[in-house]
Amino acid sequence: MNLLGADILSIDQFERDDVRTIFTCASEMEPYAQAQRRTRVLEGAILANLFFEPSTRSRVSFGAAFNRLGGAVRDTTGVESSSIAKGESLWDTARVISGYADVIVMRHPREGAVAEFAAGSLVPVFNGGDGPGEHPTQALLDLYTICKELKRSVDTLGGARVAIVGDLKNGRAVHSLVKILALLHPIEIVLAAPPGLSLPADLVERVRSRGHTVRQEAQIELGLAGADVVYVTRLQRERFSSPEDAGRFLGSYNINAQMMRRACPPHAVVMHPLPRDSRPEAGELSNDLNSEPRLAIFRQTDNGIPVRMALFALALGVQSEVHRHAEAVTWTRRNRAP
Ligand code: NCD
Repeated sequence: MNLLGADILSIDQFERDDVRTIFTCASEMEPYAQAQRRTRVLEGAILANLFFEPSTRSRVSFGAAFNRLGGAVRDTTGVESSSIAKGESLWDTARVISGYADVIVMRHPREGAVAEFAAGSLVPVFNGGDGPGEHPTQALLDLYTICKELKRSVDTLGGARVAIVGDLKNGRAVHSLVKILALLHPIEIVLAAPPGLSLPADLVERVRSRGHTVRQEAQIELGLAGADVVYVTRLQRERFSSPEDAGRFLGSYNINAQMMRRACPPHAVVMHPLPRDSRPEAGELSNDLNSEPRLAIFRQTDNGIPVRMALFALALGVQSEVHRHAEAVTWTRRNRAP
């Protein structure tokens, strides 16, 4: 597909070729993402970041990516402080905001709402998460991370084993991840979810029909066995009808360092879209993994910047202009040891 002027609403839009193009562009963005060089290629351009559901990293990451390209960002957060609370339709909001900005990122609690919004927009709209639906840019940065961590490419990941653990029913990040993994040469996907939180059957079918092996495993540790990547997700408490309903699943899966050592090869990495729920009762991803180099979660969040820069550059047609507008960095950035 041609990304110029395109909305990014779902992984359904992409083929493996598109992902390859995005990743090539993302690797070119890395020196800018890491502030080793800077570029003004999007100077004068405006991103409107509309987040109608809680977010920290996605919102800041989209904004920082746009800023690193030289563009400016206008943010709005929460339904209460927006005109949607006064009964404005998504279509009207889209028309208004697209008169102010060159590209829009939107997160909304309802599945399908971002696509509805995009229909009324005059400029490209990126889905920053629509309820339990999709989170396509997260899947792109997740696959980019998998390629970097395993030192493989989208064309050579075939045969890898990816275990996906947690609330697979409600997690939009995993819905998009499974769709993007389906674009690879055949791999093995192990879905390790407590009973009641399994991946929707249509997604399982889609992956199988593209020639991948899918195994569903209710016993979490068995699910990890031999995995190259263990992708853990949070219990999506906000998608349940009541706190009690969600509470039944608290602590029903927990990945810790010992389990990883027992079940997985030494090169296996642990990923998570974040936030991880660090409250004691949640226990999904133990802090004892924090000192292990295999914990890739913060390298994964770092990768969000170059991937989102690539998407903005491609959607706004400046991908080949970035270097022409490059300059030296004038400030001192000293990364401290974590
Ligand atoms: C995810 C989301 O919001 O879907 N977070 C993110 O954007 N990185 C995952 C989650 O909230 O569990």
